Amino acid sequence: MAGRRTLTIVKPDAFANGKAGLIIALLEKSGFVIKASRVMHLTQAQAGEFYAVHKERGFYPELVEFMTSGPCMPLVLERDDAVATLRTVIGATDPAEAAEGTVRKLYAESKGRNAIHASDSDENAEREARFFFAEADVLAG
Ligand code: TYD
Repeated sequence: MAGRRTLTIVKPDAFANGKAGLIIALLEKSGFVIKASRVMHLTQAQAGEFYAVHKERGFYPELVEFMTSGPCMPLVLERDDAVATLRTVIGATDPAEAAEGTVRKLYAESKGRNAIHASDSDENAEREARFFFAEADVLAG
């Protein structure tokens, strides 16, 4: 992925609120090209494993419950400086603290139900992309 790819997830609150398409439109407007996508309903085991780094945190059970509450949409996205740019485009974890025009400011409900995930490093982008997609499912080039 070498800096040009990242992994995002449009979260269940966005689907419940009919905002998934608007969020994807904003990502495309921000210069990202979709290289892979799927709509899925995570199991408890999948959500628990994906967020295992937060296992000891108080919000973990609620996070797993939320991420399994409805459909979500993982996508592999591509553009220059993908990881850092997407983190800027999504905004702060808590929408109350997110900058104007960011995905979370525009579409998130709360710190827990915050519309979108984005990888925070190239290494995690690669690992998280592999969590959801086989190599053959991600467009080359
Ligand atoms: P984190 O990786 O800190 O944030 P980000 O998604 O911005 O990278 O946390 C992962 C998710 O856990 C976050 O998107 C929402 C949830 N969460 C809470 O519900 N409460 C909290 O206090 C924190 C820090 C996170």
